[in-house]
Amino acid sequence: MENAFTLIDRLESVHSLSLEEYEALILAQSDETAAYAAEKADRVRKEIFGNKIYVRGLIEISNICRNNCLYCGIRRSNGNCDRYRLTFDEILECCRQGHGYGFRTFVLQSGEGALDCDEICGLVKEIKSRFSDCAVTLSLGEFSYEEYRRMKEAGADRYLLRHETADEAHYASLHPDMKFENRMRCLKDLKSLGYQTGCGFMVGSPGQTAAALAKDLKFIETFSPEMCGIGPFIPQKDTPLGNEKSGSCGQTLYLLSLLRLIKPNLLLPSTTALGTIDPLGREKGVKAGANVVMPNLSPVRVRKKYALYDGKICTGDESAQCVGCLERRMNSIGFEISSERGDYEEIKKE
Ligand code: SAM
Ligand code: FES
Repeated sequence: MENAFTLIDRLESVHSLSLEEYEALILAQSDETAAYAAEKADRVRKEIFGNKIYVRGLIEISNICRNNCLYCGIRRSNGNCDRYRLTFDEILECCRQGHGYGFRTFVLQSGEGALDCDEICGLVKEIKSRFSDCAVTLSLGEFSYEEYRRMKEAGADRYLLRHETADEAHYASLHPDMKFENRMRCLKDLKSLGYQTGCGFMVGSPGQTAAALAKDLKFIETFSPEMCGIGPFIPQKDTPLGNEKSGSCGQTLYLLSLLRLIKPNLLLPSTTALGTIDPLGREKGVKAGANVVMPNLSPVRVRKKYALYDGKICTGDESAQCVGCLERRMNSIGFEISSERGDYEEIKKE
């Protein structure tokens, strides 16, 4: 097989490798290969997006969840999780504040089953009528085709549903009562309904192999999502995986760079989880190829309750103004926060 540098060159030019080649590339991660991939990813991203970083205001609308993902702090069996659900007025107030900061995308995220389809549709309609220049992204878990269709009709523009892992056995080991097939069905439905669709996975989840990560890269190459959220696994003490070790910042950065080369115009966030395992993680993520940040707009009083993992940043009083913090952080590495909606765009062919 070619060496890692030539595989990276080929990925940059044809945006595709075989499963075996992806696996070889993952196993070949070193300071040198990571720097090589990051340098190319940075250049590719700058050619398309310049020094613009899109911003999405994240509103964590509820931590109520009917699922029991082994890694997640808001899983239904966690009796130590203090459950909340924001009222419509509270959510609209978060949007109003975010709009004032210049945000033109709101991401509504929650555990699964916290709101039913009618409630979601009502909320989306209200946000779209009050903030007609904004995009609404939903990240509320699995629903039927018909429910996704109604949410789209209500005005939702985008949907984030991480596939979590493209390896079926690994998926089953992390999600006792969920079905890999259904996750994939949801993603296909979302895309066919015309949502800008985001998938994604955790890096370093317990039991994850290089072969499993290679499947994630191949899945992203073929599914071709508009957005992709990746971040390191971080243990949460009240979960069955609470004593496992975190995924690494280095591997997450390397994968961000490879994703940028697979799909140059991908909307790729530098995540809060990355900023949690490394104080400069989000800056490093952007330098490795990411082009989106998602400041937390949730009311400060609920932020600690949306504890997916331990040590999550942006949950203290000092974080009330994540937007200012992120803007300074992005400026410090030569990037500008954009106040455009930041929709996905096809690359224009000359
Ligand atoms: N319920 C929705 C869903 O299933 O898509 C959205 C909320 S869910 C909590 C958001 C994401 O948090 C998951 O897709 C997962 O990848 C991530 N997450 C959960 N627990 C985590 C952990 N311990 N470390 C890192 N990421 C985690
Ligand atoms: Fe939230 Fe820095 S981005 S405190």
